[in-house]
Amino acid sequence: VPNEELTSLFDTSDEWIAERSGIRARRLATGPLVATQPPVHPVDGLGTTATMAVTAASEALGRAGVRGADVDLVIVATMTPDQVIPGTSSPVAAQLGIRGGAMDLNAACAGFTYGVITGAGFIHAGADCVLVIGADTMSRATNWEDRTNAFLFGDGAGAVVLEASPGQSSMLGWDVGVDGSLAEILYADHGSGMVMKGQEVFRRAVLAASESARVAMDRAKVEPGDIALFVPHQANLRIMRAMADRLGIDATRIASVIEWSGNTSSASIPLALAQSIADDRLHDGDLVLMAGFGSGMTWSTVVWRWGR
Ligand SMILES: CC(C)(COP(=O)(O)OP(=O)(O)OC[C@H]1O[C@@H](n2cnc3c(N)ncnc32)[C@H](O)[C@@H]1OP(=O)(O)O)[C@@H](O)C(=O)NCCC(=O)NCCS
Repeated sequence: VPNEELTSLFDTSDEWIAERSGIRARRLATGPLVATQPPVHPVDGLGTTATMAVTAASEALGRAGVRGADVDLVIVATMTPDQVIPGTSSPVAAQLGIRGGAMDLNAACAGFTYGVITGAGFIHAGADCVLVIGADTMSRATNWEDRTNAFLFGDGAGAVVLEASPGQSSMLGWDVGVDGSLAEILYADHGSGMVMKGQEVFRRAVLAASESARVAMDRAKVEPGDIALFVPHQANLRIMRAMADRLGIDATRIASVIEWSGNTSSASIPLALAQSIADDRLHDGDLVLMAGFGSGMTWSTVVWRWGR
């Protein structure tokens, strides 16, 4: 859905959206943009958090050469589950043939990095294989009448397979944090769309996520100059650049899909990873810095040596 299509819903322009956020288009699983109220429940025949999660996970499992039956745990990071009960990870597990554990994880837009750290923890505790999926149907949580933030969001899913292995690939450092007193700057109640104080979120996100990245790099004993690929949560291109600037990471190292995806919440970091692989920008042995932040406010950073 290109920016131009949003002009049928509210007063805006492609130029304004692109300049303020770097976004030119977003993908919507929930069909054509006709809703003036967010469709709260999945609609038959349209995409859901589970269908997108299964598509992404099937591809990741295929690339890793792993069968669903070999997965000890699937984590679905999402804040837009398809039902209140059960977790979206249950139908996802059923469709992938997974009989190991399954759980949903809601840390808002920091969900994927929380999921990777949780998955790595399970591997350290003895699991052989953990599937981490980030999937969100943000179009169901968006207030399509609110021009101050509706243009930011999109739908998507991405996945990684974590395996116990003697190879060099591993999590070198991590950090998680929360400031629960900031919950009111970005929230959505049951059955209604998101409410956001954009400038406050912008300012807090840059400060908190940059500090978290610094802590994770210190723990990993690596310098900003060692980072081959910086994969921040794709919230706004200006936030991503401001973070790279604060951290001293060259802007050419930023992985970005926001131009065509918008903010897909938990899906944004794995989407940017997948795009980087497709673009031949991510190689075995590279140091990857993944930085998630979101409503809560939550934040979470991972320093990973990529590979098998
Ligand atoms: C939302 C965001 C892009 C807005 O950019 P901004 O530079 O802060 O813009 P402002 O809110 O100051 O709005 C500037 C003007 O544009 C107007 N405007 C708002 N939305 C608009 C739209 N869609 N089209 C055109 N104009 C718009 C405002 O009304 C305001 O007009 P005014 O100056 O006459 O009052 C920015 O604040 C942001 O990205 N924040 C972080 C959001 C985020 O990342 N959330 C998810 C975190 S996980």
